[in-house]
Amino acid sequence: MATVSFDKATRIYPGSDKPAVDALDIEIADGEFLVLVGPSGCGKSTSLRMLAGLEDVNAGAIRIGDRDVTHLPPKDRDIAMVFQNYALYPHMTVADNMGFALKIAGVPKAEIRQKVEDAAKILDLTEYLGRKPKALSGGQRQRVAMGRAIVREPQVFLMDEPLSNLDAKLRVSTRTQIASLQRRLGITTVYVTHDQVEAMTMGDRVAVLKDGLLQQVDTPRNMYDRPANLFVAGFIGSPAMNLVEVPIADGGVKFGNSVVPVDRDALSATTDKTVTVGVRPEHFDVAGPESEKGLAVTVNVVEELGADAYVYGSAKVGGDDSKDLVVRVSGRDVPEKGSTLHIVPRSGETHVFSTSTGARLSD
Ligand SMILES: Nc1ncnc2c1ncn2[C@@H]1O[C@H](COP(=O)(O)OP(=O)(O)O)[C@@H](O)[C@H]1O
Ligand SMILES: [Mg+2]
Repeated sequence: MATVSFDKATRIYPGSDKPAVDALDIEIADGEFLVLVGPSGCGKSTSLRMLAGLEDVNAGAIRIGDRDVTHLPPKDRDIAMVFQNYALYPHMTVADNMGFALKIAGVPKAEIRQKVEDAAKILDLTEYLGRKPKALSGGQRQRVAMGRAIVREPQVFLMDEPLSNLDAKLRVSTRTQIASLQRRLGITTVYVTHDQVEAMTMGDRVAVLKDGLLQQVDTPRNMYDRPANLFVAGFIGSPAMNLVEVPIADGGVKFGNSVVPVDRDALSATTDKTVTVGVRPEHFDVAGPESEKGLAVTVNVVEELGADAYVYGSAKVGGDDSKDLVVRVSGRDVPEKGSTLHIVPRSGETHVFSTSTGARLSD
């Protein structure tokens, strides 16, 4: 087991003048499950490939434990990688696929067999050891790819979107299996996904990347409760946080016809006339159509999920322009399409960001 550090690690691809990954700085603890998440092209795979030794590091350093591995070849880094497409050998059995790296390393046959059988037991693959990959389901192939990494007992697991070839239902059950397996084995893991739900449910901590730049690295809880900037606020959470540009008023910000109290320090930190306020869909108090209080929202669509429902509506929040909003309501008290709701952001549950820089202004 080992720690992993990205120390201002930068990758500039030949022929490009903009780094694909720009001075990435993350310290990963021994045994931690760290998820790198962000939209397509933000530099997740490049970061992982730098750690694996599959991509040159143009500036900065990468360390595993106390070893500087920045310029070590992949085979000397003591890592095992699971790819999106699994990269199984089609002509080999499951057992041979799982044991292949050990065979190349000259590990005695009996020992390979033992390790493969142990891993197969953990992964529920025992009865498939003699099959070829084409005779397996997608979920089973995914587990073989995991098994191949496990038998090597590496210091670090690297996984690049290992669930993206599975259907939605299997993806949910497999993500739980991988997370609990990782906790059981205690091997430091760096896991890449573009799916923020996967990131939030699996990671001890989550690192959000955008355009090659680290936006925030934090526990899922902190990431949700205190997003560091507008990008993270909009990216983490589903449905997304409502983000509305509103005028600054005495003692707070003007949210429709009510003033929402906002931390004075947050507003003094900007010279702008407006700020962007963020409210998650579950953080509104809702009053009925007769209510005078709060912001009037016209209900356009209601998405019923059983326990609760999401109201997609529009309202005049900041100025004269109508703005789309999402509000979570109880599944037992669902408004009619076309009706009007009155909503007030719950106190202490608003987020304030600078409209011009995107930085978080509130605590
Ligand atoms: N081999 C390559 N040569 C040149 N540019 C690349 C190469 N691989 C990736 N890129 C570029 O680097 C950026 C980051 O890519 P990548 O790390 O694959 O993103 P992600 O995995 O987050 O989708 C993208 O703009 C991509 O086009
Ligand atoms: Mg990728």
